Amino acid sequence: MTLSIRPMTPDDVEAVREVVSAANDEADRKAGQEPSAPTAQQREQFFRGTRRFITEDAAGAWVAVDDDGVVGMAEAIRRGGFWGLSMLFVHPRAQSQGIGRQLLDRTLDYARGSDVRMIMTSEDPRALRRYALAGLQIHPAVKGVGMVDRTAIPVDLKGRTGSADDLDLVAAVDTALLGRSRAADAEFVLGNGATLEIVDDGAHRGFALHRDAHPNMLGATDEQTAAALLWRILEKTTDKTEIYCLTAAQDWAVRVCLAARLAVSGSGPLFISGMDHPAGPWLPSGWYF
Ligand SMILES: CC(C)(COP(=O)(O)OP(=O)(O)OC[C@H]1O[C@@H](n2cnc3c(N)ncnc32)[C@H](O)[C@@H]1OP(=O)(O)O)[C@@H](O)C(=O)NCCC(=O)NCCS
Repeated sequence: MTLSIRPMTPDDVEAVREVVSAANDEADRKAGQEPSAPTAQQREQFFRGTRRFITEDAAGAWVAVDDDGVVGMAEAIRRGGFWGLSMLFVHPRAQSQGIGRQLLDRTLDYARGSDVRMIMTSEDPRALRRYALAGLQIHPAVKGVGMVDRTAIPVDLKGRTGSADDLDLVAAVDTALLGRSRAADAEFVLGNGATLEIVDDGAHRGFALHRDAHPNMLGATDEQTAAALLWRILEKTTDKTEIYCLTAAQDWAVRVCLAARLAVSGSGPLFISGMDHPAGPWLPSGWYF
């Protein structure tokens, strides 16, 4: 069996989706959960997002191919001095044979010269091992999962639903909070089926994107504003919600989850290098951080 690692191309997107799906389904089964099939809309969102990685972050998008086709994929982003690993998946039929490590190494080439590196990970011990050995520091995290207790939602929540007209606010809040702006990524996510929530109240400003009942990026000037934005998302969910990757710096969000009577339990950690801890009034997007 021959194996090659090569740049991802637009022709790979369907095979890439199948690898991600098979790896996720297997991980669900191992965790004792029944895998759920994505909707047609979620598949389309995945394809659009993957094509964007290939055009915007070509040097971070890789596939592993054996005699039977694509068996692994990796995607990483660079935004100035920031590098983040967005996805790393190997098909269950080819796992634990060193393919994940080779793919990760290619994406780390794209990290050269970056100041800050970040990975929001699953609980897979193979992933944790390689991320720690790549020099990133672990930040243990929890998740909040379940149906929101609607009686707990604060009345008169601050804020409004936003639009592309609010991207200047996104850029300003992020630049002060993170030293980088996610506005271009937020614009893409917004155009790819997400909803934007805004608080713009004097010194208290912030934004949050959400899709399919979970946050997909949040940034605010302060924790109180961040909490109001998270409540706005929870208020709109009618289905089971999942809020991942809450480290000690997101204690404010853990408290919102607890108040909403979500089940808080261990989750895949966040790995970081180049900063001591993540920003506080911030929730990452899995793909764009
Ligand atoms: C995580 C994943 C990408 C790793 O890819 P892989 O090809 O299976 O892993 P590799 O064979 O490259 O092994 C990675 C490391 O884990 C070690 N390893 C292998 N099997 C292991 C096991 N069962 N437990 C612990 N470590 C193990 C390997 O020795 C290797 O470390 P080393 O290079 O220092 O020797 C892949 O297993 C996967 O797709 N998992 C499900 C999806 C997922 O969780 N992705 C991560 C999202 S952030």
